[in-house]
Amino acid sequence: MNLKELYINFFISKGHKQIPSAPVVPENDPSVLFNTAGMQPLIPYLMGQSHPYGTRLCDYQKCVRTNDLDSVGDTTHHTFFEMLGNWSLGDYFKKESITWSFEFLTEVLHIPVNKLAVTVYKGDGNIPFDEESYTLWRNLGIKESHIAKTCEDNFWIAGASGPCGPDTEIFYFRSDEEIPETFDPEDNRWVEIWNNVFMQYYKDSEGTITELPKKNVDTGMGVERTTAILEGVNDNYASSIWKDVIELISNISNLPYEGNEKSMRIIADHLRTAVFISADPSGIKPSNTDQGYILRRLIRRAIRHAKRLNIDINSDWESKIAKLILTKYKKYYHELEENENVVLEVLKNEKEKFNRTLEKGLKEFEKLTKNKENISGVDAFHLYDTYGFPIELTEELASELSLTVDIEGFQEKFKAHQELSRTASSGKFKGGLAGNGEMETKYHTATHLLNAALKIVVGPTVHQKGSNITEERMRFDFSCDHKLSEEEKQKAENLVNEWIKEEIPVSVEEMPKEQAIKSGAECMFIEKYPDIVTVYKIGDISKELCGGPHVSNTKVLGKFKIVKEEASSAGVRRIKAILESE
Ligand code: ALA
Repeated sequence: MNLKELYINFFISKGHKQIPSAPVVPENDPSVLFNTAGMQPLIPYLMGQSHPYGTRLCDYQKCVRTNDLDSVGDTTHHTFFEMLGNWSLGDYFKKESITWSFEFLTEVLHIPVNKLAVTVYKGDGNIPFDEESYTLWRNLGIKESHIAKTCEDNFWIAGASGPCGPDTEIFYFRSDEEIPETFDPEDNRWVEIWNNVFMQYYKDSEGTITELPKKNVDTGMGVERTTAILEGVNDNYASSIWKDVIELISNISNLPYEGNEKSMRIIADHLRTAVFISADPSGIKPSNTDQGYILRRLIRRAIRHAKRLNIDINSDWESKIAKLILTKYKKYYHELEENENVVLEVLKNEKEKFNRTLEKGLKEFEKLTKNKENISGVDAFHLYDTYGFPIELTEELASELSLTVDIEGFQEKFKAHQELSRTASSGKFKGGLAGNGEMETKYHTATHLLNAALKIVVGPTVHQKGSNITEERMRFDFSCDHKLSEEEKQKAENLVNEWIKEEIPVSVEEMPKEQAIKSGAECMFIEKYPDIVTVYKIGDISKELCGGPHVSNTKVLGKFKIVKEEASSAGVRRIKAILESE
């Protein structure tokens, strides 16, 4: 049995139900592009909603983290990984959680106790030292000098707000050297393998911490890292998870792994992530925004490195690698089986598209950089616009030659280009070509007005949590701890209608993200936005980071009407509203 199977079986034996992995693109949480931890799809249940499978859950969750994308190529970084997790939703707490983790590691995985060390929460002004965890570890046989009390790293939260709590992290000594008497979490021979979070608090966007209705446990263990450790390899890509993929790349390129590690790891990692993203039910395709852009970057970077290994890009190399990855994971993720053809198509199409310009682009790059130390913004934009080089690719190519890229200059050109295309598309819009967009555009602007109205009526703690617009109606999810009273609903509706009557112009401006945030623009999910953002202003009523499109004056919206107000998830309410023509 592999690690995943051992883990799930163990927690099932402790009364847990296995839940399926959620899609890699969050279904109801637009705050992140991808699920980055096993707990993310479980947030409503950690907040108090009851889960249909009960109070003890376990799973392996598909996760994508892109913050370290550039580090992929070394021995430990991946853009996709699987996270094992077990949860208590108001059921067991520290004692069982710690005891079972210890049992799993020492009795199922047979890790010697001496190779383990832990950190526990030291405590700060508001939240006390986690003495209970400390004592539990001691009683299980972890010696005092292998328990470190720390603060910053022992309070876990996904992002800036949400369910959170002190945690205890478990480390493994990954080295043949003598195990040090005292555990130092900063010593990188100690590798964190499991994190148990005692999730009993909620931190709101203002930073205020309150108790959750129930005390939960949220744990996470990385499959790739732990597998490498168990197999005694220092390079994750030498473990059973990657070995055959690397071998295949080595076969295709006719080159040994040794000496070509970086490119081979990048191809293996990026294609695996691309397989999972394109097999996801969300139907993401390569594009120039959001998840689609990440997918495009991954595929294009993999292609570039394949070229570097002299792989014939026109052959079916990417298909062969993807098929091996699909075979390895199908058993665990049925969507890979169902969407196999979609995945192969996505990779092939993107390859063909990029391949048309890659060769010429690389030549152009050489020409542009000859006897130069710096790539100008204009040149970087030219590589992007004409040859489809994501700016990150140009940066990578440049850094290999120790050249710098004028990113600001690139962004300026990019912005000017966007303005041009916006004008072009709004021209089309007027001409009626984008016929179905008119109502959606109106609802889009109405969403900003409603958000502003709720901030006045309910209070400044209201923040957008999601929205969904069709031609017929808008739906708006927002943070709020109570059902709106009739009076509150009426007031919000009246405010929006007043603003419509006031015929307020809507303006748009582009600026660096930092500047937009400083200026107090409302923004749902900061990490989601590019460095240059579009800010839509409706008079002094509303200022939001937003991709648009919007109407140019509120007067065209008609009459705004709230038709329903209901709970969406814990701490989140949902309003459905319509616009009627007057
Ligand atoms: N949610 C915790 C983590 O990702 C377990 O580390």
